[in-house]
Amino acid sequence: MKLSRFGERYTRHSGIVELMDDLGSALLGNPNMIMMGGGNPARIPAVEALFQRHLHTIINDPERCFAMLGRYQGPMGDEQVRSLLAGLLQAEYGWQVTAANIVVTNGSQSAFSILANMLAGEGSANQNQVIQFPLTPEYLGYTDTGLVENFFTATKPSIQLLADNMFKYRVDFENLTIADNVAALCVSRPTNPSGNVLTDEEVLKLDNLARTKAIPLILDVAYGLPFPGIQFTAANAYWSDNVIMLASLSKLGLPGLRSGFLIASEEMAKAFSCVNTILNLASGNTGAALATSLLRTGDLIRLGGAVLRPWYSQKAELAVTCLQAALGTVPFHIHKPEGAFFLWLWLPGLPITCVQLFEKLKAAGVLVIPGHTSFPGLQEPWQHTQQCIRISYAVDAQVLQKGLQMIGRVVQEVYANAG
Ligand SMILES: Cc1ncc(COP(=O)(O)O)c(C=O)c1O
Repeated sequence: MKLSRFGERYTRHSGIVELMDDLGSALLGNPNMIMMGGGNPARIPAVEALFQRHLHTIINDPERCFAMLGRYQGPMGDEQVRSLLAGLLQAEYGWQVTAANIVVTNGSQSAFSILANMLAGEGSANQNQVIQFPLTPEYLGYTDTGLVENFFTATKPSIQLLADNMFKYRVDFENLTIADNVAALCVSRPTNPSGNVLTDEEVLKLDNLARTKAIPLILDVAYGLPFPGIQFTAANAYWSDNVIMLASLSKLGLPGLRSGFLIASEEMAKAFSCVNTILNLASGNTGAALATSLLRTGDLIRLGGAVLRPWYSQKAELAVTCLQAALGTVPFHIHKPEGAFFLWLWLPGLPITCVQLFEKLKAAGVLVIPGHTSFPGLQEPWQHTQQCIRISYAVDAQVLQKGLQMIGRVVQEVYANAG
């Protein structure tokens, strides 16, 4: 193969490809592997049944079915779903948005890649523009999205130690400097991998900081508000005309749809839709059709509060209790799970790297994510990046307990062997 620079860049080793690959091959190698690695949402029968009912209604209506399968939509995506969503956001949060602020996307991964490359990379003044993560760790899927090198920068957080071996990351505003070549700030809220939810104050401060630099704040709400609402703190949804919000249908239980929404100023929404059209021709209609149905009945928002939030928060509590018990006397900290569906375990004295721990866990039969993958853009060395693993609790209670006991046993062995 004679590859271009683009081809070479995108076919070399990448954390996200390795992750998606591992998810598939781990099960082939060991059908009993406990899968606590990926970002798949949990299987919740009531949620599946609800989606099936909505899909049946659409499929049984020839016009709606045709609109879903038989047409390309325009650059911004289906007008009806965008208007319904805008109406909901106005009513629920008082945001000044109309359909002109909303674009249907092919999921947040694709939307982020487009958006990030629209903002960062070589600027018109030949300056290398970058996206800054004001709090790291951040979503590992961002890592390789830049078409050029040196695409991201990141700022270390401050760490607040809490009772019961818990901790919380906070934006370290004192050390947060935004260089002139920063083209956007970006945070996921709740944060993948830590389950941190930036406080209302932190988000407002970041938006104001971004505004003073005349750059946008990208808010990736894949797990949070307005939907799917997998957030256990009282933090509020936030949007302003300086925010570019990426919302996704995936964590509702629909990752196979590859669908979501970008919500931004009219100018940014239009600009994004142009690039998306060149790259994708159009976004898929199935997500828009299902979201229309869910919006009409109110299920899109109701699902979060009535089903997903209680389901995941109970699992989070169970997971913390089990992991604390399983780790015994090993020195550890667990990030306070405030949303999303991961436990982020920090082992300050870990005598091996997180990749070596990941390998040992895999050999024992449980798959997690080694934490070093979740620090995109961080240039300065930081031992912490080698001392963490991400554990998904989007699994049944029995599997959860078994997996966490296994993790506890392996970690204890690692410490015992080192001592
Ligand atoms: C923070 C975050 N953003 C975006 C995505 C990708 O979402 P989508 O399935 O909509 O592409 C994920 C998936 O795990 C995620 O964790």
